[in-house]
Amino acid sequence: MPYTFTKSSELFQRAQRSIAAGVNSGIRKMEAPVPLYFTRGEGPNLWDADGNHYLDFQLGQGALFYGHAPAGMADAIAAQARLGTHWAAQCELEIDVAERLQAMIPSAELVRFSNSATEVVLTAFRLARAHTGRKLILRFEGHYHGWADEGLVGFANPADKWGDDENPARLHPSKGVIPEVLDQFVMARWNDVAHLRRRVDEYRGQIAAIIFEPVLCNTCCLEPVPGLMSTIRELCDRDGMLMISDETITGFRFGASCAQGYYGYRPDLTVLGKAVGGGTPFAALAGTKAAMAKILSGEVIHAGTLNGNPLCLAASKWSLDQVQALGAAHPAGIQQLGTRLMDGLVQLARKHAVPLHPQGPGLIFHAVMLKPGAVEGPIRDYRDYVRRHDAPRWAHLRRCLLEEGVRAIERGLWSISLAHRASDIDEALVRSARAFARHAAEWKPAA
Ligand SMILES: Cc1ncc(COP(=O)(O)O)c(C=O)c1O
Repeated sequence: MPYTFTKSSELFQRAQRSIAAGVNSGIRKMEAPVPLYFTRGEGPNLWDADGNHYLDFQLGQGALFYGHAPAGMADAIAAQARLGTHWAAQCELEIDVAERLQAMIPSAELVRFSNSATEVVLTAFRLARAHTGRKLILRFEGHYHGWADEGLVGFANPADKWGDDENPARLHPSKGVIPEVLDQFVMARWNDVAHLRRRVDEYRGQIAAIIFEPVLCNTCCLEPVPGLMSTIRELCDRDGMLMISDETITGFRFGASCAQGYYGYRPDLTVLGKAVGGGTPFAALAGTKAAMAKILSGEVIHAGTLNGNPLCLAASKWSLDQVQALGAAHPAGIQQLGTRLMDGLVQLARKHAVPLHPQGPGLIFHAVMLKPGAVEGPIRDYRDYVRRHDAPRWAHLRRCLLEEGVRAIERGLWSISLAHRASDIDEALVRSARAFARHAAEWKPAA
């Protein structure tokens, strides 16, 4: 029987009387039929307040790269909690974590810790502007860099307002943002090298940095086309701009040296979040000595009461040790599992004539649902995705999957954790088979 969510529905009703809109991050309202309330997690398994069991590929929006509640991490946090939960001062643990990052990521000559990747992005922008004396940041349509004013520009441009292909509009999805925020950005389309060159040339001498998600995980899991990373590096070197790799999602998933090691490029600054803290509020800015110079000189301020919190550091040290211990076996292990899952979903889609086309490198991928009549073939950029992806139909399939105990990120992203085993993938596919059958029988496009 498909799951029901009575207890979660009751809790959500209650929450709305004390928590604004009932959730503490806007995106959590997307979960249908109701935002779920969880009681326990273990490895790839998750249980909600109704006692429903899920195989989890949502993984705390990707942060739980080591699975739910790994015993070693829980022990490390508990041991630290008995010594102190917060000092707002130095402790050896922070050097332990910094040294691990240095050893794992060649461009991480120096690091600084924060509580969220949103904050780290803001620090990176501040550094880039101080470093170059320039105002503009070049960013790509559909890339998400946190929820602050500066992080969201051009993330979710609606098709009727996004401007022509050559000059994408600078739009903000939130009210309450002053228009001057938009003036700080130059927009470009992802995965079009010639277009990028034209955008940089048009603003030559005014751009402080180029920021990007190396794999566009927040829109359709779009890998960079060959030559894109080397072009960004070349343009940054040519014009004295900083290359900022936002590895909040890709960090440690793509190997100990992150996506920059996997795709072979060396950024000036790297944003690390999610997996670096294994599900604790921890994030890091890593960079070359040259790019971090203005923090060393004190000209750029980076601060925070909870920065380098010892509980988070204990979790991070444990997490990074797991990645390092895998050595060369990572990311091949999760890659294999992810490919097995993608292949299984493709077979189910064919069997039930569902136009689902998972796209991505396997260890993380996006469930693209093609609109009726849309051409097949890999999606290339944000506009292509909006034009071809059938969001309502995916939402229906996602709900069927959830009701059978398979949980992916609401907008379609799936990721594999170090806790998943082949048997979990196979079980997820058995459950998915029921979900596809129901979806195929029940789906009716809106008239
Ligand atoms: C690529 C990217 N950058 C930055 C952020 C912001 O991270 P946080 O929510 O930890 O502030 C996210 C969050 O999903 C992200 O995916």
